[in-house]
Amino acid sequence: MNDTAGHLEPFGVDIDLLTGAMKDPDSYKCTVASTMIPYYADTEAIKRLVETQDDPVHYEVFEKDVPEAEGHIRICISKLLPGKVGEEFFMTKGHYHTVLETAETYLCIAGEGFLLMKTTDGRCLWEPFRPGRLVYCPSSWAHRSINTGPAPLVSLCHYPANAGHNYGDIVKEGFPKRCFDRSGTPVFQ
Ligand code: PA5
Ligand code: NI
Repeated sequence: MNDTAGHLEPFGVDIDLLTGAMKDPDSYKCTVASTMIPYYADTEAIKRLVETQDDPVHYEVFEKDVPEAEGHIRICISKLLPGKVGEEFFMTKGHYHTVLETAETYLCIAGEGFLLMKTTDGRCLWEPFRPGRLVYCPSSWAHRSINTGPAPLVSLCHYPANAGHNYGDIVKEGFPKRCFDRSGTPVFQ
């Protein structure tokens, strides 16, 4: 994908707009349930899920490789499976960008749920996901996807390629709100 001088050449990527499948991704990251143990409110319930279902896949990320440098844009598909841990809906780990001054867009292709976002000074907001809805996550806001539906939640994300992922602060701080299924309705508490 580089020319002889090492510059990135133009390229295209095929994305199935019904399923969100990315054709020929350059990289693939699979997150299994056992790595999610610190994140859910009900630790026993997530441990049970890991043991009884043989540590199932929780979510997957498919990406195109571009240099992780300023001026480049990273393209990825995030696919979060449906389910609950106790009454808490399945979610991603969530992260700040290491370079805080970097925003991100999420275009929901399939499924339903929310992008939960928070700032370092405790503001917490969420935006719904439904197919065709684009959510803009401004710079400095940590973000986590939550799947409240019966099918995979699939989003196409774009962010500056130098952004980086800071997971450590979320493990320490969590988010001020969680999303629970209360008699069939998603409720943030
Ligand atoms: O770049 C993003 O924000 C997304 O592609 C996420 O990385 C993806 O949804 C997986 O979430 P996390 O990185 O919090 O594990
Ligand atoms: Ni991000």
